Amino acid sequence: MSIPEHVKIVEVGPRDGLQNEAQAISVADKVELIHRLAEAGVRVIESGAFVSPKWVPQMANTGDVFQQIEKREGVTYSALVPNGKGMEAAIDVNVQEVAVFAAASESFSQKNINCSIQDSFDRFLPVLEQAGKHNIKVRGYVSCVLGCPYEGAVDPSAVLEVSKTLFEMGCYEISLGDTIGVGTPIKARQLVEALQKEIPNEALAVHFHDTYGQALANIYACLEAGIQVVDSAVGGLGGCPYAQGASGNVATEDVLYMLEGMGIETGIDLQKMIHTAQWIFQKLNKTPQSKIARISPASETD
Ligand code: HMG
Ligand code: MG
Repeated sequence: MSIPEHVKIVEVGPRDGLQNEAQAISVADKVELIHRLAEAGVRVIESGAFVSPKWVPQMANTGDVFQQIEKREGVTYSALVPNGKGMEAAIDVNVQEVAVFAAASESFSQKNINCSIQDSFDRFLPVLEQAGKHNIKVRGYVSCVLGCPYEGAVDPSAVLEVSKTLFEMGCYEISLGDTIGVGTPIKARQLVEALQKEIPNEALAVHFHDTYGQALANIYACLEAGIQVVDSAVGGLGGCPYAQGASGNVATEDVLYMLEGMGIETGIDLQKMIHTAQWIFQKLNKTPQSKIARISPASETD
């Protein structure tokens, strides 16, 4: 398969990024972040999670966030849901797309959502059933596809089984999560190629964390295998509360820089994304993780 001409970026910063921040982030700041991302041209924004506030306190105000977003035509604002209860909360605030999340390793499934992989599928059933009734699209995540913080190496056949099950249950897109960022390019590419034999390429996405600095190289290897959908987080926000030591997602603006250099279109304005990264990291009193946001001058309007 050849390198695609267009890549869909799924911006996960407001969810996968902010879920891991220790300090409180106001609804207003979350909403402004989402507005800025849409203004930069992002077309899919994972904007929050309807999960237990005891497990992930930072996502507790997702309902308020969704109520305050001024939705733009052509932009999808999605949310993570682990079960029927989360789905009800999502439907209450008219969420158009949700994502369920399973793991390729049993230990991570237990730590992250307190149940086995098989039980997680049972919990997703009401989500998919309600999604069908309300015309809501469902994305499926598979975590730990290239390694697990508790079990080490993960067999590609386990990733394939979980991915196929999610696809057959009705998930239109399967996002392959290197949750702890241990993957390297050849392994990433081989995994994608194994999955492409059983799942259409258009239904596959990649989700890399940059813990070991491999994310861009891994994305490039997957683009060469034909992948057209890439998850990333503005400024490299993130980490996973149930994967100790996992650093942020690959930074959206670093991905954009690479894709622009390769002549691949995303529809996103790189400068606006850099300024959005600088803006949110200033709110968090931190320095953006991306190389490009560190070296770029700050916006004069912020
Ligand atoms: P549990 O304790 O097994 O659930 O948690 P339960 O059904 O026994 O319910 C316990 C309590 O939670 C009850 O409340 C329920 O009502 C409540 P209580 O009676 O004690 O007051 N509850 C909920 N509250 C709000 N929203 C809900 C919900 N469901 C039950 N949806 C559960 C199971 C799945 C709820 C819990 O483990 C959980 O919320 N986990 C969230 C984990 C999470 O968000 N992790 C981070 C995202 S995953 C990730 O980052 C990886 C990814 O990015 C891909 C990658 O990077 O590879 C996707
Ligand atoms: Mg993630």
